Amino acid sequence: MTTTLLHQSPAGFATPLLVVFAADTATKDAPATPTLLTTSAPIETAATPWLTSGDFKATLGETFLLPAPAGLKAQRLLLIGLGKADKLTPHELRKAAGVAIRFARPRTLRTLALTLPEHPLLPPGPCIRAIAEGAIVADFDIDFYRADRKDLSIESLTVLSASPITEALQTSFNEGVILAESQNFARTLINEPGNILTPTELGKRTAAMAAEFNLACEVHSMEKILELKMGAFASVTQGSPQPPALIVLRYEPPTPPPTNAPIIGLVGKGITFDTGGISIKPAADMDKMKYDMAGAASMIATMRAIAQLKPNVRVLCVVCSCENMPDGHAFKPGDVVTAMSGKTIEIMNTDAEGRLVLADGLHYAQTLGATHLINAATLTGAIGTALGQINAGLFSNNDETTQHFFDAVTITGEKFWRMPCTDDYRDQIKSQIADILNSTGSRYGGATTAAMFLKEFVGDTPWIHLDIAAVTWLDDAKPWQSKGPSGVAIRTITEWVRTYAS
Ligand code: BES
Ligand code: ZN
Ligand code: ZN
Repeated sequence: MTTTLLHQSPAGFATPLLVVFAADTATKDAPATPTLLTTSAPIETAATPWLTSGDFKATLGETFLLPAPAGLKAQRLLLIGLGKADKLTPHELRKAAGVAIRFARPRTLRTLALTLPEHPLLPPGPCIRAIAEGAIVADFDIDFYRADRKDLSIESLTVLSASPITEALQTSFNEGVILAESQNFARTLINEPGNILTPTELGKRTAAMAAEFNLACEVHSMEKILELKMGAFASVTQGSPQPPALIVLRYEPPTPPPTNAPIIGLVGKGITFDTGGISIKPAADMDKMKYDMAGAASMIATMRAIAQLKPNVRVLCVVCSCENMPDGHAFKPGDVVTAMSGKTIEIMNTDAEGRLVLADGLHYAQTLGATHLINAATLTGAIGTALGQINAGLFSNNDETTQHFFDAVTITGEKFWRMPCTDDYRDQIKSQIADILNSTGSRYGGATTAAMFLKEFVGDTPWIHLDIAAVTWLDDAKPWQSKGPSGVAIRTITEWVRTYAS
């Protein structure tokens, strides 16, 4: 998709599809016609009869098409609702821009123009970025392996602004494009089946991305994992004939930050297929476990965004990727393994493998110099029981860095909910014969148990753990996004990293 930002009157712009946004100004006591968020008189003339008639109420994502609108150069005028006028934020606009794209695609309208809405609650910079993000994220589908796949992708998107295009506006637009393209890069990886996206293949694709965007990249296999004494990671991979991949990415800012400046460490769970191992999973829904590398994909995609946005902060990324398979060589319940940190772990359940690979990943990131840690992982089914499929779980040992993260959330509109991981829960992972257990027999608080396990490996380093298990895969399409991999967290992690730029 080519994206262009233009200072131009929408009525005079020739396009197959012109999109104008509208807000619902009605209140409980006073019905009112929706307000068009443009000051273009010809557009008002064309649309007003349909606003006053009640055909279109401007609820969020509602669409109304006017073919051959008189007085406009556009062939079609599409009204899209943003919802209640007094509650408008750029987040509604992000969704509505996605609706525009998903309206155009099945109709093979490959070129369209959106008018930047004018409203006191909608600042142009964040709006222009939200439009770019919403449009590009919407222009993605999962049917890569279908012979009848139709390429419906949008060729050209123009955003028409009533005010002149300042450098700051153009920058916001470019940032939105970078973030959304990175989100789609992750979604492509997450969508890949386990037989195609093996740990080795994940390493290759990461290396290719790193070469394209000038990131330092190392991809190691079993030899290095053993040399580093990553006994937890090694135990998970040992049941699979596929070699594991330990991937390290580094971003160095153009001007070197001071030596005592923070170094951000991103760590990702990259299980390219999780059968559960010897504690094997039931057959139902096991196919979904191809997306057990979504945490890794999110972190690799975040590095892709950072490489282009160039914040003034050092960032490194560690991905621990392998399969979790049952086999004669596989690790077993009752085994005791020694993590890179030296802690011994009694294996209770081989299906609690994500925390094992992350334990070594988090420790390794600190030995590489990380002063602040964040990890993302499809870690537990229990997080879905706690929070449903709306919010991802956030666990942290540090209020300040958590605040930075929630500051980032106000920009990106993604949904995270802080969950407890205080030492009250430490008993859950007590072992009789080793330092800790990798899981408990209890079904209570499973997402926190997993977080408590990870916390054992971060020491006092400020750390955030994102459990994205229940929000990584959309079972149903949304009006602004296809079903399948959501690509959640990339935009917010990137924004959080930027809060550490000097
Ligand atoms: N990859 C799974 C978690 C998961 C479940 C991700 C559903 C996405 C959707 C993880 O490795 C796992 O199996 N966790 C176990 C932990 C348990 C054995 C303590 C779980 O959640 O059941
Ligand atoms: Zn598992
Ligand atoms: Zn898993």
